[in-house]
Amino acid sequence: MIEPSHLAPGAAALINAPDHVRIRAIRSDRWVGFGRARRVLQYLDALCDHPPSTRPPGLAIYGHSGMGKTMLVEKFRRDHPPVVDRNTGCETVPILAITLTSRPTERRIYGQLLMALGASVNERATLMDLEIRTMLLLKNCNVRVLVFDEVHNLLAGNPREQRVILQLMRYLSNELKASLVCLGVMDARDAIAGDTQLSRRLDQIVLPRWKVDEEFHEFVGAVLRSLPIKQPSALSSQGLRHLARISDGVTARVFSILNELAIEAIRAVTERITDEDIESWKPALEKETMFA
Ligand SMILES: Nc1ncnc2c1ncn2[C@@H]1O[C@H](COP(=O)(O)OP(=O)(O)OP(=O)(O)O)[C@@H](O)[C@H]1O
Ligand SMILES: [Mg+2]
Repeated sequence: MIEPSHLAPGAAALINAPDHVRIRAIRSDRWVGFGRARRVLQYLDALCDHPPSTRPPGLAIYGHSGMGKTMLVEKFRRDHPPVVDRNTGCETVPILAITLTSRPTERRIYGQLLMALGASVNERATLMDLEIRTMLLLKNCNVRVLVFDEVHNLLAGNPREQRVILQLMRYLSNELKASLVCLGVMDARDAIAGDTQLSRRLDQIVLPRWKVDEEFHEFVGAVLRSLPIKQPSALSSQGLRHLARISDGVTARVFSILNELAIEAIRAVTERITDEDIESWKPALEKETMFA
């Protein structure tokens, strides 16, 4: 029996599973906690715990595509799931999250909020009907945090359309006395700047691309501990530098490179990731052309 002290509990529990089970686990979505992500989650938790207020605090999270913004929202939601009161049968939904579509409209947003609450949407309802029903349901469910992902999609609309949606977001937050969380790529900042009152309410967190520092070291360590391979993988600072370069410092790419190398390590029975593996890693497309 191998003592997998180099692994996080979830990965350690899989260590004696057959190869195909471990490979499937590596390919499945999983949450990995690391310093930066935990700090953002603490901030989000504080919003959820904030008592209802006429000027609720809010947060904007900006970062390049693949920096893990949506993963943060999903983890935040999992940590604060809906609860049904056994006596009254009333449902409390602490966090309601929707993703803005390209050129969002008020109708569309009310429809998305209703669907997120599991309510039906009547296509023929007037805007006012939709508004009244949504507000009633949101208040009944005691929503504490409203999350809007992909806020940069606002920019596809003209300035008037953008203002309408930003005002709607502010209105929802005011009426519910709930916090707003907006996420998007850096352009989202320009979109939110279109409503000064809203942008003043939102603190900002930027998720920059990784560079080789202590924080990156800790992040890579956390990803490695989440991979169910039998031997510890110690990367030197040169290996880390190379990994930062080939991943362009993007979280999603660090995950996909290390996942791919872990799967290769299982198949090759080496069961560890080395500096040399990182040095010789090639994107899948390049690998194909090499053998063409
Ligand atoms: N904390 C994490 N734990 C595990 N995997 C993660 C984590 N953060 C990011 N990833 C990986 O990175 C991928 C991209 O993350 P995510 O979709 O959250 O990025 P994003 O910032 O929302 O990108 P986009 O702006 O394109 O929507 C995920 O599918 C996952 O594979
Ligand atoms: Mg996303």
